[in-house]
Amino acid sequence: MNERLDAIRQEILDGIKEKANSRATAFELRKQFLDSKTGKIGQLMKEMKTIAPEDRASFGKGVNELKEWALEKFTELDEKMKTLELDLRYKSEKIDVTMPAKEICTGNLHPITQMRNQLIDVFAGMGFEIYEGTEIENDYYNFTALNTPADHPARDMQDTFYLSPEFLLRTQTSAGQIHVMEAKKPPIKILSPGKVFRSDDDATHSPMFTQMEGLVVDEKITLCDLKGMLDVFVKKIYGEDTTTRLRPSYFPFTEPSVEVDVSCFECGGKGCKLCKGTGWIEILGAGIVNKKVLENCGIDSDRYSGLAFGIGIERTAMLKYGINNIKLLFESDIRVLKQIDDN
Ligand code: DAH
Repeated sequence: MNERLDAIRQEILDGIKEKANSRATAFELRKQFLDSKTGKIGQLMKEMKTIAPEDRASFGKGVNELKEWALEKFTELDEKMKTLELDLRYKSEKIDVTMPAKEICTGNLHPITQMRNQLIDVFAGMGFEIYEGTEIENDYYNFTALNTPADHPARDMQDTFYLSPEFLLRTQTSAGQIHVMEAKKPPIKILSPGKVFRSDDDATHSPMFTQMEGLVVDEKITLCDLKGMLDVFVKKIYGEDTTTRLRPSYFPFTEPSVEVDVSCFECGGKGCKLCKGTGWIEILGAGIVNKKVLENCGIDSDRYSGLAFGIGIERTAMLKYGINNIKLLFESDIRVLKQIDDN
């Protein structure tokens, strides 16, 4: 009898040595011996009835001792496996805080969108509302109503893509002025950003580009209001020390018309490559709305006056970010786009 008990003891020791390599396998092994129904030690207890009465006491004692011993062994084994598994987990989940972090690449808005948003911010702060017109216009809104009739030489200033004798791709966001003034009576204060199209293509011109039109119509609007607003605009975009100057120019829809220059933000006005030695950089066209244009829209030009300006968004961005070829703004080269992040 003692031999059987010893054999089981040995089987347990061998099992622990050879089969148990995790808490789960140790538990399985434990079940083989200690499960109350199927375990080998439990089975021995059941044999009690078949043992001769005089041997029962010592058999029972032997089995009980074996059971106690096995319980102890398996408890010890479980503890050992627990520590082992924890060690393995610590090893596999170890974080090396000195490893360089993975770079997370986030996109940013396109430079033209950034510039457009900055301009909208500046003028929205002065109370301008946004009006977005359409890219296809008819001749009347793009030219005639803007005091540029069919035979007017100023039409040659803009090489137009005609879709039909009547319809065209708008050459200027100024077309939006007419829509707004037809729909709304003064006071008017709108900003109209959008794409415009001209058959023009070189380092500083693209057949499609973006403009931002401004229009203010009210009583007693003068060139001083225009200069005041543009001064705020250039300071916000090009820096606090920037100023403007107005030069006489010509646009059919404004009288007087001006070309607006900013003091060179690169050299502070001393003269450099960017400003071609003049200290000034041309940035936009503007003026006092021609009375004829107000009248074309049914606005009393004796009572009301207006100011208007047209900003080229690509040009503003090129100057601000030091871009010398407009194509760089349309090619979406990631190396260029990455450098411009003013958000
Ligand atoms: N529409 C003109 C252009 O595309 C720019 C412009 C000049 C707009 C004077 C204006 C303005 O509103 O008053 O060249």
